[in-house]
Amino acid sequence: MNSPKVLYVCSEVYPLLKTGGLADVSAGLPPALSAQGADVRLLLPAFPSIVAGVTPEGPSLLVPAGGSMGLPAGLGPAPRPTPGPSPWLQCGRIEASGQAVWLLHAPGLFDRPGNPYQDASGKPWADAADQFAWLGWAAALLGTGLDPAWQPDVVHGHDWHTGLAFAYLNRLVSAGHRRPATVFTVHNLAYQGVFPPEVCARLGLPDALFHLEGLEFHGQVSFMKAGLRYSDAITTVSPSYAREITGEEQGCGLDGLLRHRRPVLHGILNGVDDAVWNPATDPLVSPGFDADRLQGKAEAKARLQQRMGLQERPDGLMFVVVSRLTEQKGLHLLPGVIDEMVQRGGQLAVLGAGDPLIEQALQHAAQRHPGQVAIHIGYDESLAHGVIAGGDVILVPSRFEPCGLTQLYGLRYGTLPLVRAVGGLADTVVDCSLENLDDGSASGFVFRSLDTESLLSALRRAFALRRRPADWQAVQRHAMALRFDWARAASDTLRVYQQARADATGTASA
Ligand code: ADP
Ligand code: GLC
Repeated sequence: MNSPKVLYVCSEVYPLLKTGGLADVSAGLPPALSAQGADVRLLLPAFPSIVAGVTPEGPSLLVPAGGSMGLPAGLGPAPRPTPGPSPWLQCGRIEASGQAVWLLHAPGLFDRPGNPYQDASGKPWADAADQFAWLGWAAALLGTGLDPAWQPDVVHGHDWHTGLAFAYLNRLVSAGHRRPATVFTVHNLAYQGVFPPEVCARLGLPDALFHLEGLEFHGQVSFMKAGLRYSDAITTVSPSYAREITGEEQGCGLDGLLRHRRPVLHGILNGVDDAVWNPATDPLVSPGFDADRLQGKAEAKARLQQRMGLQERPDGLMFVVVSRLTEQKGLHLLPGVIDEMVQRGGQLAVLGAGDPLIEQALQHAAQRHPGQVAIHIGYDESLAHGVIAGGDVILVPSRFEPCGLTQLYGLRYGTLPLVRAVGGLADTVVDCSLENLDDGSASGFVFRSLDTESLLSALRRAFALRRRPADWQAVQRHAMALRFDWARAASDTLRVYQQARADATGTASA
């Protein structure tokens, strides 16, 4: 019971393909599950950068379209209209990690250049529903025994891209197929995969599923709702977010369903992958450092100032941001506090890309404050490590934040997080109030309201703490000693698997 075979379904994995924290999680959680006895295989779409990093090994299997090979008629995506081979699965291993994977090849759907989710103009790919219906269908077939040599006990899907797996599994099991336990993880409820009802026929979603208690969402098809509705258990990536999404404000229209499913909804905080984010061994930050040897951090700051064209000031308070520049991240507030930040002697280095309005406002601030404020627009893994290592304070003022990883990386690198008290940020950062300083629990700066004044007051607390070097060092030392490891998240996840398997087979969980 404690060594389940787990089919772990997701759309990206570090270092092969990463657009956000989901990729870090897909790289960090599976090995931690394996270390505790699980036999984990990833199922990933065969995007070009993923194919390039996987060595084929073992069988390949055809993925039949719905309605064929004895499957219930009309269920599952229709045969692809384009000529060429049907979708197929290739078994293999990620070269960088040795992780076992299934890659889903579907000619015309994944094998094209560019962003996995958006076309060159930044719009979602027109065939997104088909891409991720096939991913869900492949997961459902593997879950019901497509590969007789490896039949998963648990199908664990991540975010809306995998939601249809649970709807297809529901129908296949009703038709008498093998029943794995099913777990669905929400990394971000705001992205739901909602498509017009016309896709139903093409994706083989029978009428039996298209209703309010199924995957219908305001007359549309919601992949996210399918995952929430048809899985045995739901997890999300922090305890606070698990609570928040059952309320109207953060429920994105699905809070009613989530309240209904509250008994099987679990908040499990993400971890930090020590092999990638450890200041003592990080190959992208040299020389390394730890709480007892901070010279490397001072050098990282100087290097960051050079790299970003900032004035070299060892003592200036260096604020940093590594983020998607979106409404979610609360960064529309940042331009409004930069003048005061600089006037108080601070500097700001931003690495990110996203909303053109936020990008422009930050560029204007950089022009107003040459040498003190710099923004690098784009995605750069190596620079991200340099920025987090070289900063004094990392800003994460999010409107909502399911977990957030950069504040965890900041803690590990002694770059104190300044965060809004929401979701995983509230669960991981303790404000430098006098009482928290006194009892040694303080690890950063926390504010509540999503407005400029509240952000400014937290910034002022950062400057105030900096003027008390002994207190700053104590907080930094405590922050660097905190551990958010994947082993804890893995053991909590294994408990959820165990309960889901007991529910699936109708037996009591041990
Ligand atoms: P989200 O997944 O909502 O974007 P997280 O904090 O969970 O937020 O994860 C973001 C991940 O993406 C982190 O690993 C962070 O370092 C990385 N990241 C974000 N923006 C950039 C960027 N512009 N360049 C490099 N890495 C980035
Ligand atoms: C999502 C969330 C982020 C979380 C990440 C990994 O992208 O926005 O808060 O850390 O998933 O779970």
